Amino acid sequence: MSHDLFEAAKAAMTKAYAPYSKFPVGAALRTEDGRIFTGANIEVASYPEGWCAETTALGHYIMGGGGKIVEIAVIAERMAKCSPCGGCRQRLAEFCRPETKLYLCDDAGVAETVTMGDMLPYGFRGDILK
Ligand code: THU
Repeated sequence: MSHDLFEAAKAAMTKAYAPYSKFPVGAALRTEDGRIFTGANIEVASYPEGWCAETTALGHYIMGGGGKIVEIAVIAERMAKCSPCGGCRQRLAEFCRPETKLYLCDDAGVAETVTMGDMLPYGFRGDILK
């Protein structure tokens, strides 16, 4: 099942707008009811205003109705096993559980499977804010 999520992330990566870094990234999320949401990184001439593939995918996921995320795939054209940046780990964790699987990909497929708990141990939790 993970390979189709890899393929969705890879397809998303072709839509990256990364003229400054030339580092295209694609991400794909699957919800427990089987919906897939994808995203690519989008850069801006004022560099800090750009954002990551994972964040684009999360925007699509929220606008598509949200739900429980059960799997995530990330791929970068120029780096095998590209893992989400710190900010994206926090954003993803908002909608995941520690056991949510994260597939780190290379050009051929899933190269390593980790969990969101592995990626963001001791992350800030917003429970007290609710
Ligand atoms: N980038 C992502 O889209 N996701 C990651 O997980 C790491 C970094 C993007 C941001 C920027 O457009 C480019 O990669 C170089 O940092």
